[in-house]
Amino acid sequence: MADKRIIAVLGATGAQGGGLVRAILEDPAGGFAVRALTRDPSSEKARELGDLGAEVVAADVDDGATLERAFRGAHGAFCVTFFWAHFSPEKEVAEARAMAAAARATGVEHVIWSTLEDTRRWVPLDDDRMPTLMGAYKVPHFDGKGEADHLFRDAGVPTTFLLTSFFWDNLIHFGMGPQRDDDGGLAISFPMGNSKLPGIASEDIGRCAYGIFKQGGELVGETVGIAGEHLTGRQMAAALTLALGQEVRYKDVPPEVYRNLGFPGADDLGNMFQFKRDFEEYFCGARDPARACALNPRLQTFADWLTRNADRIPIPQ
Ligand SMILES: NC(=O)c1ccc[n+]([C@@H]2O[C@H](COP(=O)([O-])OP(=O)(O)OC[C@H]3O[C@@H](n4cnc5c(N)ncnc54)[C@H](OP(=O)(O)O)[C@@H]3O)[C@@H](O)[C@H]2O)c1
Repeated sequence: MADKRIIAVLGATGAQGGGLVRAILEDPAGGFAVRALTRDPSSEKARELGDLGAEVVAADVDDGATLERAFRGAHGAFCVTFFWAHFSPEKEVAEARAMAAAARATGVEHVIWSTLEDTRRWVPLDDDRMPTLMGAYKVPHFDGKGEADHLFRDAGVPTTFLLTSFFWDNLIHFGMGPQRDDDGGLAISFPMGNSKLPGIASEDIGRCAYGIFKQGGELVGETVGIAGEHLTGRQMAAALTLALGQEVRYKDVPPEVYRNLGFPGADDLGNMFQFKRDFEEYFCGARDPARACALNPRLQTFADWLTRNADRIPIPQ
């Protein structure tokens, strides 16, 4: 352990960070040790990570002093924010600022910042093809992350910018799985038209991050986009049909309908899908499955992921 390079992982009990923690623990000869950061080291999930061999340390992204303590002595840090815990892009930016400051203060040699595009570069606020939200954003949970990129650069922190993709796990945990249509049939509904949606198994994000840490300095300063596969809604529905053994259709709902579905964040997600639909060439081009596979040879396709997870997708009766 003493000669291993420590990676401090935010969100260690969650999806992206959890994938990274496990990837490091599954490769004991890889030269890295993992420090799992959590607000509550006594929680069941945190204790599980401890049992697997992770060092478990308390940290809160809203408390810079705890971040600094948790980053001290680490070679690398995986930095991620949790938009859906508070729905505030301003808070995400403040959290990223605190992470960059802590990495700078402790001399962390390699940060991976889990980011997304600031969509206002493509759709300025005065562009009314989609509504401006919260007064200053087009896709709030993207824009704050993209806006925060420069904070790592400005702090002089050696950073790789990791552009993530839609988690297929959203079909299980985020209410995006098949729903009953008016005729009783099953359908997935996204405002994606016929555009392809880059998707990924969330655990593969952490595995790709591990691949980036292993490559080290080479990828500092670079933006690395990852996806498991790019699929149209129709292709996703066909794969679901096979995996579930019952027909699932794809329903292309207009973005304005999606924005008004009434659940918290529906407007943000409606704009997000519209952005991905309308800027398909850029968005898919920025997330290369071949590059992700080179970082993580275990990268799953949607069909692979369904083989392991189809029985966890809630199907309404
Ligand atoms: N869903 C998607 O398709 C998708 C796609 C791309 C990007 N994203 C982005 O992914 C981010 C979330 O990542 P995730 O899904 O990996 O997270 P997650 O699974 O929701 O995990 C969150 C973990 O982070 C920890 N956490 C929450 N608040 C914290 C705080 N204040 N300080 C320290 N730790 C805290 C919690 O651990 P403890 O309780 O143990 O502290 C929790 O287990 C979001 O910002 C979202 O926009 C999502």
